[in-house]
Amino acid sequence: MWTKESLHDLVTEKLKDYLFIVVSNREPYIHSYSSGQIICQVPASGLTVALDPVMRACGGTWIAHGSGDADREVVDIDNKVSVPPADPRYSLRRVWLTKEEEEGFYYGFSNEALWPLCHIVYTKPVFSESDWNSYKQVNEKYAESILQEVGDRKAFVFIQDYHLALLSRLLREKNPAIVTAQFWHIPWPNRDVFRRCPWEAEILDGLLGNDLLGFHIRYHCSNFMDTVDTGIEAKVDWERYEITRGGRTTAIRPFPISVDFENISEGAKRDEVLAEIERLKKRLGIGDEKIGIGLDRIDYTKGIPERFKAIDCLFEKYPQYKGKIVFVQAGVPSRTHVKAYQLLNKEIDELVEEINWKYSEGHWKPIIWLREHCPPVTLEALMRMADYCVVSSLHDGMNLVAKEFVASRSDEDGVLILSRFTGAARELADALLINPYAIDHFAEAIRNALEMPFEERQLRMNKMREVVRENNIYKWAADIISDLVKFEAGR
Ligand code: G6P
Repeated sequence: MWTKESLHDLVTEKLKDYLFIVVSNREPYIHSYSSGQIICQVPASGLTVALDPVMRACGGTWIAHGSGDADREVVDIDNKVSVPPADPRYSLRRVWLTKEEEEGFYYGFSNEALWPLCHIVYTKPVFSESDWNSYKQVNEKYAESILQEVGDRKAFVFIQDYHLALLSRLLREKNPAIVTAQFWHIPWPNRDVFRRCPWEAEILDGLLGNDLLGFHIRYHCSNFMDTVDTGIEAKVDWERYEITRGGRTTAIRPFPISVDFENISEGAKRDEVLAEIERLKKRLGIGDEKIGIGLDRIDYTKGIPERFKAIDCLFEKYPQYKGKIVFVQAGVPSRTHVKAYQLLNKEIDELVEEINWKYSEGHWKPIIWLREHCPPVTLEALMRMADYCVVSSLHDGMNLVAKEFVASRSDEDGVLILSRFTGAARELADALLINPYAIDHFAEAIRNALEMPFEERQLRMNKMREVVRENNIYKWAADIISDLVKFEAGR
C-alpha cells in the first residue's frame, strides 16, 4: 500500500538529483481579500485536490497562475509563497497573466475550445484564431517561468492538463535535459472528434514533447494514439504504447487518479465534522428526512439538470416520498464569464424553482440549492450526513467527488449513484451505475438508494473503500514516477 512516506522515499531515492516541479494553470491555494483581510482558499478543482497531498509528500515547487486578488501581496521577489499556509511543505510559484491573456488562453481556447472538444456533451467548441494565439503566448510564459526556476540544474517537470499542451515541446527546445511527464485530466475523444480542432497538428506535436503522457484510462490512451496515427507524421507503436516523433519517444500510459484515502477517512471522524452536521441541519431546516447530496463545480459536463429532472420524475412516480426526503446540492460557480456556463446557471435556477414550487409543502421543499463556495468542513459534513451521493456527469475523465465520498464513509454506510460515463465507474463497480440521460432509470436508482437495506449498503461501500484505499493518490504518483524512471533508463 502506498503512503505519503513511501512516496517521499521513492522521490528521494529515484529523483534525488532532480528538482521536482509541478505545473498547472489552477493554483492549489488562492489568496484573496475578504472584508479588508487576506484570506486563503482552496479552489474547487479535482486536479488541485489530488496534487496537493503529492506535493506535501514530495516537497518541490508548484508553478501556477496567480488568480487571487491578494496573490501578489504574499509572494516574495521570485513570486513564491510557502504552502499550505498553516504547515508549509512546498513552494508555490505564481505566474501572472494579463486580463487579455486570461480571456484568450483560459476562458477562450482552454475552456471554450479544448474543454467542450474533449467532453462529449454536445456543447459546440468555439475555435478562435486570437484565442489560439493567446494560448501559445501563455504556454510560452509558463515555459519562461519554469526555465528560470530550473536554471542549469536537472529537473523533472510534471505538467498538468489541457491548458498547457504546448509546454513540454517549448521546454525541450530550450533545455533538452529537462525530463517531462504530462497528465491529461480530462477525456481524450476519438480521432474524428479531435480533427475538428484547426490546430490539431500543433497540439499533438506539443504533447509529444513529453517523455511520458498519462490519461486516466486505457481507452483515452488508445484514442490519443489513434489521433496521432492519422493526424501527424509519427511512428506509433501499438505494442509498446509509445510514439516516436523527431527521434524522441513518448510513452502513453493510463494512470487512474485518486484521493488521499486515509486522510479523508480519518478527517471525516473529527468532532468538528459532527458539530458541523448539526449546525448545517439546523441552518437548512433538515429534520428526519433522508438526505441526498450533489457536490459539483457548476459545469455543463456534470449533469446537474439531469439530476434534478430525475428527482422530479421520482416524485411524479412515487409521491409518498414528499416530505420524507431532501436533496442538498452544493455548487461552486465556475467559468461564469463563458456564455455556456451562464446559460447553465439560468437553467439550474429555473429547474430548482419549478420543482420546489411543484412539490413543496409547508416549510419542506425537495431541493436545497447552495450556490456557494463551501469551506472544507462543510463539504466533509455533507458527505458524512448523506444517505446517498449523486455523481451524474455526462462525461468525466475520472470524477474525484465519487472517490472522496467513498473515502469519507468510514462508518461503512451511504450509497453512491454514479454515471457510467465517468472514469471512476471503471473502478467503483459497486456504486449504482446510471446513464444520466435515461431520466426514468436514474429516478429508479434514487429509489433503490433510498430503499437499500443496511447490509447491502455496507457491503457495497466496503468493497468500494478497498478499491480507493489501495489505489490512492500516492500510488498514482508513485506509478507515474516509477514508469518515467524505467522508461528513461531503457532509452
Ligand atoms: C477540471 C480540470 C482542472 C481544473 C478544474 C477546475 O477538473 O481538469 O484542470 O482546475 O476542472 O476548473 P478551473 O477552470 O476552475 O480551474
